[in-house]
Amino acid sequence: MIFDRKSRMAMPQHTVADTGLTAEALAAAHKHASHDRIDFWADLARHELCWSTPFTIAHSWEPPFARWFEDGRLNASEQCLDVHLKTGLGRKVAVVWEGEPVDAEGAPTQRRTLTFDELHELVERFAAGLTSRGIGKGDRVVVYMPLVPEVLVAMLACARIGATHSVVFAGFSAESLRDRVLDAGAKAIVTADGGFRRGKVVPLHENVRKVRAQIPAVETVVVLNRVGSSKGGPASSAPLHQGEVGFHELLGTARAAAVPVGAEHPLFILYTSGTTGKPKGVVHSTAGYLLWAKKSMAWVFDPRPEDVFWCTADVGWITGHTYVCYGPLANGTTVFLYEGAPDFPNGGRFWDIIEREKITVFYTAPTAIRSFMRQGNTLPDSRNLASLRLLGSVGEPINPEAWHWYADVIGKGRCPLVDTWWQTETGGIMMTVLPAMGSAKPGCATRPLPGIEVDVVSDDGTSVPKGADGKLVVKSSWPSQLRTVHGDPTRYANTYWGTFSGPGGTSKEPWYFTGDGAHRDEDGDIWITGRVDDVMNVAGHRLGTMEVESALVGHSDVAEAAVVGVPDAIKGTSVFAFVTLMKASKGRAEDESQRMRLETELRDAVAREIGSFAKPEHFRFTDALPKTRSGKIMRRLLRDVATGHEALGDTSTLEDVSVLSALQHYHED
Ligand code: PRX
Repeated sequence: MIFDRKSRMAMPQHTVADTGLTAEALAAAHKHASHDRIDFWADLARHELCWSTPFTIAHSWEPPFARWFEDGRLNASEQCLDVHLKTGLGRKVAVVWEGEPVDAEGAPTQRRTLTFDELHELVERFAAGLTSRGIGKGDRVVVYMPLVPEVLVAMLACARIGATHSVVFAGFSAESLRDRVLDAGAKAIVTADGGFRRGKVVPLHENVRKVRAQIPAVETVVVLNRVGSSKGGPASSAPLHQGEVGFHELLGTARAAAVPVGAEHPLFILYTSGTTGKPKGVVHSTAGYLLWAKKSMAWVFDPRPEDVFWCTADVGWITGHTYVCYGPLANGTTVFLYEGAPDFPNGGRFWDIIEREKITVFYTAPTAIRSFMRQGNTLPDSRNLASLRLLGSVGEPINPEAWHWYADVIGKGRCPLVDTWWQTETGGIMMTVLPAMGSAKPGCATRPLPGIEVDVVSDDGTSVPKGADGKLVVKSSWPSQLRTVHGDPTRYANTYWGTFSGPGGTSKEPWYFTGDGAHRDEDGDIWITGRVDDVMNVAGHRLGTMEVESALVGHSDVAEAAVVGVPDAIKGTSVFAFVTLMKASKGRAEDESQRMRLETELRDAVAREIGSFAKPEHFRFTDALPKTRSGKIMRRLLRDVATGHEALGDTSTLEDVSVLSALQHYHED
């Protein structure tokens, strides 16, 4: 993907509502933050959040452990629900939901709306139901559900009683679910009989049952009857086992009041891939996270009372936590949820939804935009997209072609487009271009939001000059930063705060390392160049090379595997696997049909261990992998081979150069 770092587009005219940022308000917020960062955040926290006990201590910092507003008490569900009932928004629609199934004409058959009153009631009743099963403050609850309104009910009900939720994306396999349940030490799972995806049923409850015996600490499994009821089936789709209870059975008449928790109480754990080992449980606090979910949403998306806000992410990812659940609801914004695939029953589904539901703000990922772009303009051009007023992009660098298509064909040249950079660990948007800036450079994440202190530095921590590349760091704590890695504070300290500490390592203050490379352009604007570690971003899904490798070596024919990400026109990155087979199995790679079968088995192994989205696209079977003398696989070289480039870099540490030439030779074949 070629980025032209000079091209600049005027931002379409845009009036700013009360919550949004004018150029003056943006400048004033930056000024306040740079003058007194802690006071800036404390001021926001006082005004934005509803406290049952106001805080007196704004911030404490024992590197690398941060606490914000720590002696304050509040409840996140109150901020998302009760606050709005008090201000007369009870009858406003909080959630509009559309299910995937369609009728013979292709029209959707399922739609529901919930007002803030109705959502509030469901959350209180479900929270009371959880309490009746002995779940309370300090417990962990895993949520493994399709994108239906009940997933928001489950999350907010946990928050209401002080239980920490951990949402596991419904696309993860039973094995991945098990690992997360065990790591989180969850006491309960909330799931559904299934979810719809591209016309098929994802068997969620069945997956839970598959691993039930391996997760003995789970006392309760709550099962929503989603698929059964939508097929006009019985009230409960399958007979429930001991320890299982129906979602609606758990909704009694009792209601749970919000339990005030300390500002630092863990609101949720969300697992994300890292460079080594198993995915890590990123822990987010209640107050700091909620503050930024609310304020970043307000600043970036400028919500209006009449908005219907659609962020297409699943709640199983951070984008869904912050901009499907907490951000919109904390702002009293109507949020739209769609359960299924973007191309079901055809590639026009998203545009149909925008027309029918009069979506005003649309926030999606470059992978989705690129795949729509490939289908051409006929479908979006034949729909009325006039309700849209703002577009957003997240999750990967957006290439200029996709940027222009999105702005022109979907935004009709009249919607500002915000390209937002952030991460699971940052809790909310950290950098973006804003309409208040007047113009945008396609593909450029541009500048940090007020209060966020980022820099692009060289390996020794020195700020790089304009026009140079480096690594992206955050130089001071911010309220919505992750607090730790669940159960592993050392991993937290090493992974995020162990790489940089001031220019030349001179500062006593560690800096947060994002894992991303970046370029500082001649105007001082920042371009994200992609991950510089062993994390791949496949179709906007974060995936560790190690995770895929360990799934591959689980296959009995595989001796060793190394995985790299290679550029992909649609997915941004696709997975390329180098595999060394056991001696006795080598023949399988030599015969065409056997090799195809082996590739299918390996893809299935990855789908089983992780989920289908992680399947390798390309395989290369090789006799050996290039390693350093200390035994480390040289991924840089593999990346060169996989992308068809000559391996030009430094190969002096390579243990056996012949391995490399064998790989390259193979490539030429
Ligand atoms: O590499 C960056 C990329 O996505 C990574 C974070 O992935 P995850 O934790 O799954 O969160 C994704 C959604 C917030 C980052 O380290 N990334 C995210 N947004 C952008 C991006 N790369 C370029 N431009 C973006 N706007």
